[in-house]
Amino acid sequence: MRSDLSPSSLYKHNHVFVKFAVSFLLVGLAFRILFSDSFIFSSVVEPHTGLVANEEAESPLIPFPLQTPDSVDFPGNDSQRFQKVAEKCDLFVGSWVEDFSGPVYTNESCHVIEGHQNCMRNGRPDSGYLQWRWKPRDCELPRFNPEKFLDIMKNKSWAFIGDSISRNHVQSLLCILSQVEPAVEIYHDEEYRSKRWKFLSHNFTLSVIWSPFLVKAAIFEDMNGVSSSEIQLDLDSLDNKWTDQYNNLDYVVIAGGKWFLKTAIYHENSTVAGCHNCAGKNLTELGFDYAYRKVLQQVFDFITKCDHKATVFFRTTTPDHFENGEWFSGGYCNRTLPFKEGEIDMKDEDKTMRAIELQEFEKFASARSNQEVNLKLLDTTSLSLLRPDGHPGPYRQFHPFAEDNNSEVQNDCLHWCLPGPIDSWNDLVMEVLANGR
Ligand SMILES: *[C@@H]1O[C@H](CO)[C@@H](O)[C@H](O)[C@H]1NC(C)=O
Ligand SMILES: *[C@@H]1O[C@H](CO)[C@@H](O)[C@H](O)[C@H]1NC(C)=O
Ligand SMILES: *[C@@H]1O[C@H](CO)[C@@H](O)[C@H](O)[C@H]1NC(C)=O
Ligand SMILES: *[C@@H]1O[C@H](CO)[C@@H](O)[C@H](O)[C@H]1NC(C)=O
Ligand SMILES: *[C@@H]1O[C@H](CO)[C@@H](O)[C@H](O)[C@H]1NC(C)=O
Ligand SMILES: *[C@@H]1O[C@H](CO)[C@@H](O)[C@H](O)[C@H]1NC(C)=O
Ligand SMILES: *[C@@H]1O[C@H](CO)[C@@H](O)[C@H](O)[C@H]1NC(C)=O
Ligand SMILES: *[C@@H]1O[C@H](CO)[C@@H](O)[C@H](O)[C@H]1NC(C)=O
Repeated sequence: MRSDLSPSSLYKHNHVFVKFAVSFLLVGLAFRILFSDSFIFSSVVEPHTGLVANEEAESPLIPFPLQTPDSVDFPGNDSQRFQKVAEKCDLFVGSWVEDFSGPVYTNESCHVIEGHQNCMRNGRPDSGYLQWRWKPRDCELPRFNPEKFLDIMKNKSWAFIGDSISRNHVQSLLCILSQVEPAVEIYHDEEYRSKRWKFLSHNFTLSVIWSPFLVKAAIFEDMNGVSSSEIQLDLDSLDNKWTDQYNNLDYVVIAGGKWFLKTAIYHENSTVAGCHNCAGKNLTELGFDYAYRKVLQQVFDFITKCDHKATVFFRTTTPDHFENGEWFSGGYCNRTLPFKEGEIDMKDEDKTMRAIELQEFEKFASARSNQEVNLKLLDTTSLSLLRPDGHPGPYRQFHPFAEDNNSEVQNDCLHWCLPGPIDSWNDLVMEVLANGR
């Protein structure tokens, strides 16, 4: 399995040579498809053709060279970490067990599910993926209690900050809560990336703030997601889209992740410090891990030094489940059962990201001066890794096989079906919130 997922196996199987410009544009486009909010799909992308494959493994054309995370130590002492996060039970270690009670909402009872994640409506034929619940090894995880949640949230404001996975997460919460009280949308930005809702009878404000890098970023993509230039990242300036609102927030779920894998030029102290994936530019390759660590340090520093004290959940990276290819080369995810613990290895880039996340989180959480900050870890990476069955796959589109059972469609093995396994992330949020774990 592991080798099927690694980029190097891709190169072996694909000998399609594509010109630099073409692959560059397509990578930008495919990335846009997967990570942008509008998820604009263009017929330019032809899956199953190995478009970005190239014969030279060191070639700059390869969007994401295989990272060797050897230099990144996994924060080994889990038992120590767990003691801090949870006295009695580590909520994030366990397994998925069968549960036939079914989802708390459906495509009929929730009206805010993004089309590309509405697997039921889009005709996904199987429903077994809805019959599992997360069972922490040493305790039970109660189901999200929307009445209790809304009671706690009277007069409060809550925001999810991050990329399209954060949007995926907020929609799950909206769907769960809307079984008790419908949300009223009170704001959206021009591109419908940031949104705000109100639960009027509880005076509870819920929002999602689009900030995929969490720091200031200049992204040069046109309406079709074609990138005309590298992303410019300001590694030492947090994105004021979220920092400006921070003082009004009581609860925050913040996360980074996959956007850091993109080609980018890194700026620090007002100078170009280096880049990631930008061979040919005469710049120092610093690696995405450099930028990610730096950004998380800024984020935690801001949160811990800010006079305003919010309750902050830091969510770890979400794994994807593309098999026999990646998102740009015909990868798919058609499994219909969860994995058991140990049945699948985390991809190297996810390992690297999670290791940085845990290290930086732990550094800030354990500093004596930060004790009063309510910073909580939502370590959903491993439990999500066990759910290859929870993605839209081809059902990111409405009835993709209606015309032709052999249609070649772009698969989404990164975002999660709604309802789906991501609903458990909210069970975990609720449990941490209710029992102060
Ligand atoms: C991890 O920390 C615990 C508690 O501090 C300690 O008992 C244990 O020996 C440590 N394990 C490793 C592998 O360092
Ligand atoms: C919900 O999905 C079912 C198929 O599972 C479909 O028949 C129904 O029309 C969908 N309803 C809405 C409102 O999308
Ligand atoms: C919510 O705010 C209103 C108006 O300020 C106040 O009357 C009410 O007591 C508050 N409720 C809670 C639970 O804090
Ligand atoms: C709603 O909550 C806000 C923020 O806590 C408070 O200022 C406001 O008075 C509340 N409004 C009502 C109608 O309770
Ligand atoms: C930026 O400044 C900080 C401290 O002022 C320094 O530690 C860091 O090395 C500088 N970075 C660059 C790329 O010059
Ligand atoms: C690359 O950058 C270095 C240092 O800035 C400079 O000395 C060198 O001339 C540059 N090389 C090219 C080919 O531009
Ligand atoms: C998934 O798709 C592959 C390739 O089309 C096929 O060989 C395999 O049997 C499928 N697996 C399932 C569980 O449908
Ligand atoms: C696709 O396959 C199903 C089951 O094999 C069949 O009932 C259906 O008619 C096919 N649809 C098309 C468009 O060929």
